[in-house]
Amino acid sequence: MSKQSYYIVALPGDGIGPEVLSSALRVLRTAGELFQIEFRIEEIPCGGHYYAEHETEWPDGSFEKCQAADAILLGAVGHEVDGKTVFTKPGKPYPEPQLAGYAQVILNRRQLDLYANVRPVKLYPGVKHKIHGELIQVWQPGKVDYVVIRENTEDAYTGETDSITDGKVTPIRITRHATERVVRYAFNLARRRHKQHKVTCVDKSNIIGAHRFFREVFREVGAREFPDLKLDFAYVDAFCQWQIRNPEWYDVVVGPNLVGDIISDNGATTAGGLGLAVGGNIGDEHAMFEPIHGSAPKHAGKDKANPLAAILSVQMMLDWLGTRHTDERLQRAAEQVEAAVAALLSEGKTLTYDLLGEANASRCSEVGAAVEKKLRVMA
Ligand code: NAD
Ligand code: IPM
Ligand code: MN
Repeated sequence: MSKQSYYIVALPGDGIGPEVLSSALRVLRTAGELFQIEFRIEEIPCGGHYYAEHETEWPDGSFEKCQAADAILLGAVGHEVDGKTVFTKPGKPYPEPQLAGYAQVILNRRQLDLYANVRPVKLYPGVKHKIHGELIQVWQPGKVDYVVIRENTEDAYTGETDSITDGKVTPIRITRHATERVVRYAFNLARRRHKQHKVTCVDKSNIIGAHRFFREVFREVGAREFPDLKLDFAYVDAFCQWQIRNPEWYDVVVGPNLVGDIISDNGATTAGGLGLAVGGNIGDEHAMFEPIHGSAPKHAGKDKANPLAAILSVQMMLDWLGTRHTDERLQRAAEQVEAAVAALLSEGKTLTYDLLGEANASRCSEVGAAVEKKLRVMA
């Protein structure tokens, strides 16, 4: 059912996070105005820089706000101190030692049970890719159009690290429960996409026992519940070169957490780079949308970073909310935001340095303003 008002929690974070999120929120507010949707947006400061000042990564009560939100938008976290990027201030005791190094906002993925990290790899017309310092059109739009589904709650991300005499051991945990639900998510998506009806399981099951289990569960659920779909398999090392050489082979790709992290950044190189790559952390009750890139500290504070991934995360959020609440206004808004971004990309005039080169680059805020303008003209 449509809602009168949608409560959105925005987490700007560190580095370029606040810059790209500010452009994204500008687009969200405009979409609300144009499609007559009321968004109640609450920005919550968070991340490593906040911890450095307050000894907590966000104000008390922030997690409860995330829990109450209809959807969450995240910029990025990762704060640089003395040339080293940290989430939390070094030397301070972390509230939950087993989770040291984990950012509180990233923990939302586990604490809100956002078990599927959905990361489309999609090349828009007009987008060029940087190779050897030159801008060359290499891949064709349409050929690069698949979705990476990354398990989002376990694998090497449990936060457990034990000391041994000569080092440290971090376990890889793969459970039936988490694997079944994420592979089901991938299979259901492949049915809805009407593309190749194919799901590729990417893992390192030739050597890692826990990944072997992931693959077995994938095979079992696929054969039992999705006999209409093609099941495909790849080891992650070989997959990394195929996804660059033959991205057209893929439709939906699913893998354990760390594998999904790496192949989604790798895939982004065929689709305009990290400045365009977006992800949704999706659960049954909650969802958090974000660019897949990090806080890129070396670009922070320069109004230089590409805000389009953050803007596309607004598009993904609108689409998810629209489906969840059967609210056509949200779905139309999602389509129009994507159309506005696509139009800007194919014009190729108002884009950041990563897409146009330093000499022709527009600022982050100018790109945000240009998407807003397109949206107003097109809606
Ligand atoms: P990064 O994604 O922040 O940046 C890598 C490089 O990609 C940048 O130096 C830049 O050249 C390019 N890039 C990234 N985003 C861009 C954008 N919007 N526009 C233009 N160019 C862009 O990765 P990193 O440098 O390895 O990590 C920096 C920090 O971010 C670390 O603390 C890391 O842990 C954290 N991180 C956080 C998230 C998150 O919050 N979800 C995701 C990834 C990394
Ligand atoms: C991402 C990031 C995170 C991850 C880090 C910051 C923990 O790389 O969102 O892709 O590995 O999940
Ligand atoms: Mn990553």
